[in-house]
Amino acid sequence: MKQHLTVVDHPLVQHKLSIMRNKETSTASFRQLLREISHLLAYEVTSDLPVTNVTIQTPLCEMDAPMIDGKKLALISILRAGNGLLDGILELIPAARVGFVGLYRDEETLQPVQYYFKVPKSLEDRTVIAVDPMLATGNSSVAAIDLLKQAGATDIRFLCLLASPEGVERMKEAHPDVPVITASLDSHLNEKGYIVPGLGDAGDRMFGTK
Ligand code: URA
Repeated sequence: MKQHLTVVDHPLVQHKLSIMRNKETSTASFRQLLREISHLLAYEVTSDLPVTNVTIQTPLCEMDAPMIDGKKLALISILRAGNGLLDGILELIPAARVGFVGLYRDEETLQPVQYYFKVPKSLEDRTVIAVDPMLATGNSSVAAIDLLKQAGATDIRFLCLLASPEGVERMKEAHPDVPVITASLDSHLNEKGYIVPGLGDAGDRMFGTK
């Protein structure tokens, strides 16, 4: 992926996202829509993966058929809201390896605090897709990418549902090599670090917590 920011403005993505933003949308619908959108975003984030031809036999003849090259992808969920995107992407890429980065945001300082880190082996040989629905201040996303780089990852993409201009800028400064793929670049962050217009707390909306 060459450009730093890709906004997936496909009508299906935008339609589903608008329903998710609506505060009247139920937890069940929110979850289902997130699953559907994650398929479409996964399609975009993997659009430039290298393929190589392998010889196979169809029922009719031999052919050289393209297959994705290299080691299995690594999907890294930034807990807890990343799991909503992860589930949908795994339906599309079931052989992917999966890791988890546990970071919570201190509500006062808005700084990330790490509580869990478990990732697949050989990250340096894999395309790594880090997922978190909300790129807000960028603090936790940048911290998660720092940890993935320390673990050896070199080819990292960051996939989110919504991004703020502040978060995109922060990511670009800290990790200019990590492309960001999102369904929307929203207007701004409010004083509590929420994306505006946004959709509220993504974790609360997908898990029905408050
Ligand atoms: N995290 C969320 O869940 N929502 C926001 O708007 C910002 C961070």
